Amino acid sequence: MNITLEKINYSDLDSSLVFLYGSEVANRALPFKRDELAYLESRRKEDASALVVFNRLPHKIYVQNFDSDLPNAESLEKLRRAAADIQLILSKEKIETIAVTGEGIIPEELVAFLEGLHMANYRFDKYKTKKDSVLTKVVVERHILDESSLSENVRLWRRIDICRDWINEPVMYLNAPKFADMLSAEAARIGNVKCTVMGQKKIESLKMGGLLAVNRGSDDEARFVVLEYKPNDRINKRPVALVGKGVMYDTGGLNIKPGDYMVEMKSDMAGAATMASVLFAAAENGLPIHLMAFLPLTDNRPGKNAYAADDILTMYDGTTVEITNTDAEGRLILADAIAYADGQDPELIIDAATLTGAAVRALGTIAIAAMHQDADGPFRLLSIVGNQVYERLAEFPFWKEYDELLKSEVADLINCNLHANAGTITAGRFLAHFAHHPYIHLDIAGVAYYGKREGFYGIGASGAVLRLLYAFFQTYEATRK
Ligand code: BES
Ligand code: ZN
Ligand code: ZN
Repeated sequence: MNITLEKINYSDLDSSLVFLYGSEVANRALPFKRDELAYLESRRKEDASALVVFNRLPHKIYVQNFDSDLPNAESLEKLRRAAADIQLILSKEKIETIAVTGEGIIPEELVAFLEGLHMANYRFDKYKTKKDSVLTKVVVERHILDESSLSENVRLWRRIDICRDWINEPVMYLNAPKFADMLSAEAARIGNVKCTVMGQKKIESLKMGGLLAVNRGSDDEARFVVLEYKPNDRINKRPVALVGKGVMYDTGGLNIKPGDYMVEMKSDMAGAATMASVLFAAAENGLPIHLMAFLPLTDNRPGKNAYAADDILTMYDGTTVEITNTDAEGRLILADAIAYADGQDPELIIDAATLTGAAVRALGTIAIAAMHQDADGPFRLLSIVGNQVYERLAEFPFWKEYDELLKSEVADLINCNLHANAGTITAGRFLAHFAHHPYIHLDIAGVAYYGKREGFYGIGASGAVLRLLYAFFQTYEATRK
């Protein structure tokens, strides 16, 4: 979807048009004919936020009211959602070009609408022989938006598309070696990102016991990818470390997932895809912040030499772990990655992982399960930013008493408590054991992938969390003062 800024002429339309107006201008002169205005008025009485359509053959005008009286973040979210509804209609009508303008709309609101439109317009249709009609061209009224803020956003939205493609790709196409190659190619293309791909041998010599164990049942080699973006005008002396769960496919391993629990597990690398994408977006838009991403990549399979319950692993940092369930694999590969990241003396570590089904049960699909250790300031900022972009955090308690549930008779830790209590928290506590710098843990299992359509996030990989973290780094400077 290509967005251009142009002057829009109401009386001589080149294409169909979306017209947005805030509730406080509802009674001011809108540029419509008298009968259209009367119709609009009557529809608004029934339902204030109804989409009203005027026929101006051969084109149509889609008139959308938005509630500019709501708190800012909610009103922006409503605009994103309205955009998704409109996208669906345009797709059904096979309209590929649309103009967008409005009355009483500020740039931030128009950007939110375009964001929703862009995200709703995404399709993973590479493998479809019959593709949906989608928008290819969007012309936006020039006087409302300026070019530079639009292009920063467009670069972010394109990153979200690519991130979603990676998550949506099945493992038969995108395994660990292939994903590492793609990340490295992407870094080279962007230019100001350094990419180091560690192969099987290197991972063995580093003694990453968690990543190696999870990889043992797989026919594909593991990879450990490190990305670095270090701009000259950086505001942080020490890097912020982003760690992402990169389980290319999670069968559960020998504790194989029963029934249809395995479906959608191609998305178990959403954390890695998201963290790489945040770093790439920051680099493409020149954010003044030093970032590193640490991405352990492997699938989790019950191959003939697969790791098994009762195995005892020695992790990268020397901690020993008794395996109680091979389906709690994410925390094993993340523990090595977090310990490795910790060794770079970062000022903050954030991880994103589709870590526990328990997070989905606790929160459903509308919140990120979030926890932190010694990271009060950044955590508060991240929560505020989350409310603003409407990718919201629900903070879970992170008390040390939960560590009781991770005690082992034969090793330092077990990888999962078999009684299923506090599954999301204990997974986080397991990871926190490996972090000795301020640490934020994001369990994104509920939001990364949708089995049914969810507004502008669509269906399949949502690209959620990318807008959150990008906005966090845009405002990160504020925590340093
Ligand atoms: N990748 C899954 C978590 C998951 C489940 C993500 C559903 C998205 C949707 C993770 O590796 C896993 O299998 N977790 C187990 C942990 C259990 C064995 C302690 C779970 O949640 O059931
Ligand atoms: Zn698992
Ligand atoms: Zn998993």
